[in-house]
Amino acid sequence: MAKINKNSNVKVKGLEGIIAGQTNISFIDGLKGRLFYRGYSIEDIAENCTFEEVSYLLIYGKLPNKNELKNFSTTLKRKRALPKHTIRMLHTFTKNMSSMEALRTVVSSLSSNDKDSRISSYEEKLDTGLSIIAKMPTIVAYHYRIKNSKTPIPPNPKLSHAENFLYMLTGKIPDSEGAEVLDKDFVLHAEHGFNASSFSVRVTVSTLSDVHSAYTTGIGTLKGPLHGGAATEVLLMLKNIKKPENVSSYVNKIILSHGRVMGYGHRIYKVYDPRAKILKKMAENLSAKNNNTTYVEIGQKLEHMMSDKKNIYPNVDFYSAIVYHNLNLTHELYSPIFAIARSSGWLAHILEQYKNNRLIRPLEEYTGNLNLKFIPISKRK
Ligand SMILES: CC(C)(COP(=O)(O)OP(=O)(O)OC[C@H]1O[C@@H](n2cnc3c(N)ncnc32)[C@H](O)[C@@H]1OP(=O)(O)O)[C@@H](O)C(=O)NCCC(=O)NCCS
Repeated sequence: MAKINKNSNVKVKGLEGIIAGQTNISFIDGLKGRLFYRGYSIEDIAENCTFEEVSYLLIYGKLPNKNELKNFSTTLKRKRALPKHTIRMLHTFTKNMSSMEALRTVVSSLSSNDKDSRISSYEEKLDTGLSIIAKMPTIVAYHYRIKNSKTPIPPNPKLSHAENFLYMLTGKIPDSEGAEVLDKDFVLHAEHGFNASSFSVRVTVSTLSDVHSAYTTGIGTLKGPLHGGAATEVLLMLKNIKKPENVSSYVNKIILSHGRVMGYGHRIYKVYDPRAKILKKMAENLSAKNNNTTYVEIGQKLEHMMSDKKNIYPNVDFYSAIVYHNLNLTHELYSPIFAIARSSGWLAHILEQYKNNRLIRPLEEYTGNLNLKFIPISKRK
């Protein structure tokens, strides 16, 4: 029995440290804790831009002027409504279907309505992507309300992307502070280089598959708890820890069992995630205003212990979970919120990949047997 590749050339798992392609959408400096969208620092972007503005920047490669932003926002507003058959389909889902599963399924099914095929033009692909970005909040809100036996609330064209999402969830026009917080959260989650979901989106596009397939891949990849599924897990963990006094025993137990503290650690950032710094301030402000600082206090203790014991810091998902909690959003919505925000980054990657495509197909290192003697089924034990 022959074995090959006894001396492995693969030094790292998970493509760590491998440059898998070129992009000019965002730049991450993991050692200095810096992030840039199309050349602009995340601090400037978070301070000054709305989600619509950032989406335009990511998708078209430049900041919009007033007119461009108005037209872009109007386009998104016009595309928010779901086709009737999609709404009927949402009513058929069982109660145990999660928001991410519903989002993945419905986005995939939208291909029956939108013009999108492998031979569509660049403009048609762009148009399809904008339609999906516009509809994702509607899908999540409709699914959430139907699942909770409430009547879905149609989108309101007077409201921004973030305001409208909160409105469709609750039926109330949100206060400006809540909407601004969610808008900033969308901005901070919109793009992040070749993260697992954006990379998977690019792999799908590289086969010249369609835009709906790329989004479906992206949502499915984001859903995992090591990626966008982490924020939901963070809240469950905080509920489990309950109070700051329990942090020490919780962390020690996790470390001993080689487990994971959710919302901590990052493949690229070896220092504090710059998005987490901004989200931390937002979480602290909201918690103080709501007079409920327990989770922020747990966060402070976790930070000290994780940096002391493992040199690991909070990532984007840790404080965003506390922000959502303070906006009274249920934990099941945390990953779909990430998906809604990342949808514009995905479109930027889809278009960049289509523009300069080559099939993404790496090599594998085979570690199995070769030249085994074939045994007919009648002789197998
Ligand atoms: C994000 C993540 C998947 C990156 O993983 P990675 O780059 O493959 O890192 P590794 O799994 O190789 O971990 C490296 C070391 O850090 C530790 N580590 C990484 N993240 C950790 C965490 N959240 N809790 C505890 N230990 C962690 C590992 O145990 C390992 O320690 P060791 O070298 O002593 O064995 C990982 O940090 C993680 O699982 N975090 C929790 C989930 C999460 O928040 N995901 C959202 C990411 S934005």
